[in-house]
Amino acid sequence: MTTPSALVFDAYGTLFDVHAVVQRCDAFWPGRGAALSQLWRAKQLEWTWQRSLMRRYVPFSQVTLDALRYACEALGLACGAEQADALMAEYRRLATYPDVADALVRLRPGRKLAILTNGSPDMIEPLVAHHGLRFDAVLSVDELAVYKPAPEVYALAVRRLGVAATDIGFVSSNGWDALGAKSFGFRAWWINRAGAPLDRLDARPDGLLRGLGELPQALAA
Ligand code: LAC
Repeated sequence: MTTPSALVFDAYGTLFDVHAVVQRCDAFWPGRGAALSQLWRAKQLEWTWQRSLMRRYVPFSQVTLDALRYACEALGLACGAEQADALMAEYRRLATYPDVADALVRLRPGRKLAILTNGSPDMIEPLVAHHGLRFDAVLSVDELAVYKPAPEVYALAVRRLGVAATDIGFVSSNGWDALGAKSFGFRAWWINRAGAPLDRLDARPDGLLRGLGELPQALAA
């Protein structure tokens, strides 16, 4: 099989570690950072799906702030403007996973590289700039006002990159996102860092990875 001529990456959880906020959360609420980060992320994702079904889109920055406030309330943590502002700022400079920068350099020759994310431009653009990462396109669902895994989101990448769906490799650590992309017609790689079982969503990824650093070799094989 030929290797894809474009690679499209999910952002949060795939390139950027959403749980990099734990330290900052712990500074505000000692010992509660991990629980807060887990619930924050879970609600953030849940509400993207629910809002898409309800046709009540608001940008991911709003969903993320709402999810933070909810998670704090659920865990009994007082979250004022100081904490909320600091943690939302943290989201605009989340750490990348350690193998990301090198993998992107190795994957670039001869290929288009893009991000396709739920993240609204006010979140994803400062984050990509903060790390000095270079992509041919940083695509946000924001212009479509619907979240992944709606097929029209994946179609946006086909349109913008001018590459056929079958010639696009989609890479995500979110199993449901990798399968949404596969169901749409992309080739899909799932980064399964935690060794989780496969979501039962009537599709299988083309490849499994433990980290992005394994992708260059997987494509060369
Ligand atoms: C994103 C979410 C799924 O970056 O993490 O689109």
